[in-house]
Amino acid sequence: MEKIIIFDTTLRDGEQAPGASLNPKQKLEVAFQLEKLGVDVIEAGFPVASPGDFEAVNDISKKIKKSAVCGLARCIKQDILLAAKAVKPAKHPRVHIFLATSKIHLKYKFRKAEDEILEIAKDATRLARKHCADIEFSPEDATRSERQFIYRVIESVINEGATTINIPDTVGYSYPQEVYSLITDIRNNVPNIEKAVIAIHCHDDLGLSTANSLSAILAGARQVHCTINGIGERAGNASLEEIVMALKTRRDAFGDFFTKINTKEIYRTSRMVSSFTGFLVPPNKAVVGKNAFRHESGIHQDAVLKKKDTYEIMDPADIGFIGSQQIVLGKHSGRHALSSRLKDIGFKFKESQVNKIFQDFKKLADKKKEVFDDDLIALVEEESRKKRKVYELVSARVTTGTDIVPDATVRIKYRNNISESRSTGDGPVDACFKAADKLIGIKSELQDYHLEAVTRGKDAIGEVSLKIKIKESIISGCGSSTDIIEASILAYLDAVNKYAI
Ligand code: KIV
Ligand code: ZN
Repeated sequence: MEKIIIFDTTLRDGEQAPGASLNPKQKLEVAFQLEKLGVDVIEAGFPVASPGDFEAVNDISKKIKKSAVCGLARCIKQDILLAAKAVKPAKHPRVHIFLATSKIHLKYKFRKAEDEILEIAKDATRLARKHCADIEFSPEDATRSERQFIYRVIESVINEGATTINIPDTVGYSYPQEVYSLITDIRNNVPNIEKAVIAIHCHDDLGLSTANSLSAILAGARQVHCTINGIGERAGNASLEEIVMALKTRRDAFGDFFTKINTKEIYRTSRMVSSFTGFLVPPNKAVVGKNAFRHESGIHQDAVLKKKDTYEIMDPADIGFIGSQQIVLGKHSGRHALSSRLKDIGFKFKESQVNKIFQDFKKLADKKKEVFDDDLIALVEEESRKKRKVYELVSARVTTGTDIVPDATVRIKYRNNISESRSTGDGPVDACFKAADKLIGIKSELQDYHLEAVTRGKDAIGEVSLKIKIKESIISGCGSSTDIIEASILAYLDAVNKYAI
């Protein structure tokens, strides 16, 4: 069996999606989860982009032990030196350098000739290799580049020490047969290609990123770039869960490939990334969408009850999907039952952490008759958001109705001081946000707002994910509660806290 190296770029290309930015603590938590998931390489960021990005890559490099940690750099001396410095403490450090090779980029972005680009690529690889033994090189916009030119670039950078050659479909323009021939042509026309691993990096502008990535694997690529939930620039990147599950489910078609991914961690990783970035997973998303394993039609339900495989090509348990229909606990359940259920669904907590979650669980069980696994996950996620609190909600009171102007009074704790503020607004949520803005001393603009029930029933937990604009930054936040106004303020404060940290 042949191994496919999983290169996860959720923390770099994924985080480049507008509004997806994560704070350093969240990045580290995601990195730990990616390591648990079993990814081979974590692209942790673009160190030259900001001091915060450098710190995050450096911190992840110090703490991650199994996966390789990679930093991105342009073919610019300062970028390369910073990226190499950021990943230096890693057990397996990697520097990923990129330089566009397509005519359109050469003409309009660089205003340089092919020979000049070739020299820049060679010099950059040589420099990077002096500082790091593991170098990945990407000819950006490779799928729109002239064949003969990328062959020359690839051969040269391998001679300078590049160990992986990544082929990006930067603008998501290609289709599977095209990707297949490009990888095949590279294998047949670059004389020293056997000295490097070929990787593929696809974007989803035409919805073809997973198909293109699989096609590249069939043609000989042995590393695949991907992100959790497919987040990334514009329409996103190829999604890790789709590629991994396609290889696993259709071994008959793709061949004897394997990845080191522990698929049982897929669903949890997906939830974490969604909750931290505020990017909701569409219900019909392949593999991790809430409806991916739900059967609505009577004919389907009947057949699934007789034999699952009639309409299920994957076992939901294989990706760690927890059916939201199962009643797990109620208001009479004790600490032990909660702790053992949390363990069953994959959370390992110390006693002190279980105690905290137990308090919230009791409050929830008082409000809700039935507590489902998904409710517990929402509680745990809310608890982890609480850890980052700078501004904390103490209480909120709203008067609203069809014939009065909504009026909110919000109390917020900041560094042990509790302050109160009042405001009217266009709706109850707007009134609360305006009152909170006054109190915190910011001017925020709501850009996006989603409310979703985590489980079923009138008493279901509502999960709000939103994006607000503060000055020039767009920040996302998530919050959950059985009270949708409270969930909205929690989501708003989650975003404000990311801004404040
Ligand atoms: O899409 C792209 O070309 C990239 C490169 C930096 C590899 O993300
Ligand atoms: Zn990309």
